[in-house]
Amino acid sequence: MSVKELLIQNVHKEEHSHAHNKITVVGVGAVGMACAISILMKDLADELALVDVIEDKLRGEMLDLQHGSLFLRTPKIVSGKDYSVTAHSKLVIITAGARQQEGESRLNLVQRNVNIFKFIIPNVVKYSPDCTLLVVSNPVDILTYVAWKISGFPKHRVIGSGCNLDSARFRYLMGEKLGIHSLSCHGWIIGEHGDSSVPVWSGVNVAGVSLKALYPDLGTDADKEHWKEVHKQVVDSAYEVIKLKGYTSWAIGLSVADLAETIMKNLKRVHPISTMVKGMYGIHNDVFLSVPCVLGYSGITDVVKMTLKSEEEEKLRKSADTLWGIQKELQF
Ligand SMILES: NC(=O)c1ccc[n+]([C@@H]2O[C@H](COP(=O)([O-])OP(=O)(O)OC[C@H]3O[C@@H](n4cnc5c(N)ncnc54)[C@H](O)[C@@H]3O)[C@@H](O)[C@H]2O)c1
Repeated sequence: MSVKELLIQNVHKEEHSHAHNKITVVGVGAVGMACAISILMKDLADELALVDVIEDKLRGEMLDLQHGSLFLRTPKIVSGKDYSVTAHSKLVIITAGARQQEGESRLNLVQRNVNIFKFIIPNVVKYSPDCTLLVVSNPVDILTYVAWKISGFPKHRVIGSGCNLDSARFRYLMGEKLGIHSLSCHGWIIGEHGDSSVPVWSGVNVAGVSLKALYPDLGTDADKEHWKEVHKQVVDSAYEVIKLKGYTSWAIGLSVADLAETIMKNLKRVHPISTMVKGMYGIHNDVFLSVPCVLGYSGITDVVKMTLKSEEEEKLRKSADTLWGIQKELQF
């Protein structure tokens, strides 16, 4: 008898069943691994699968996480270049792709990453036809559209991390200015993730007290406290971090895990994430932009209708036109 047989007596043969709450992360670069560790630390999955094209790095990352199993509550961590390891995922997070070089705009990255998606998405769909896709790779709004087109999924199951990070950065910076924790500082950045994102000043509040009502110059050029700078800092933050450390990872990883929590636990929290906005705010094309979305197990179920100023709507339409201008040229 083996040590195992001497030690334990089997009382029930488990039928081979697959995981119930499986999450896959495609791309084990700086962002993918920050997402992976943040998800593991929140005990969101019973199985985590990792996929990448660089096999040594992929196996190394998997082993390194598996060696931490004692301190985690996710019993199975798998990896592979072959997408069969991703089978039966509930949530698939795409972080694969080329990253921004110093000074490179997110839009510049686009065609490089479209080509990568043409390989990834059909493979994901093949093994997890009912999953929710969460796109993180940049330019995130365009690549969410690309993932939607290639997957053939209904729009509510294809989500871009969008302005979830931008809004978190805004709330952090607002908190620093006020000496109040981000959790109690409310503010929404919507629209395109990145350079043309739109801060909704009318909604900025603490404990329901509108800062704009207290101080009408908030966010305008006349503002002596320069609150507009807070939004500018949000836009500049990725460029600043990339200049300093080469890439961004921790904040995006944490913000993606926050979205994963809402999805896996069906929390129905509202997040500023990228969804199909055709028909909203006078937008007529198939573009994905961030608006406040009700998120749960089946993806995005509802969108909160924000009362926007005409110039804010105009900015959204301008972003939509810019994105559509690029999207219509893409080769699938
Ligand atoms: N949405 C956001 O808020 C946000 C924030 C930060 C970074 N990003 C984006 O996330 C992406 C990843 O950034 P990073 O810093 O981790 O880059 P990285 O270069 O460190 O990692 C990218 C990984 O993707 C892998 N990859 C490339 N082609 C692949 C394929 N066909 N299949 C599977 N894996 C593949 C690479 O081997 C690499 O390991 C970039 O597009 C970046 O711009 C988005």
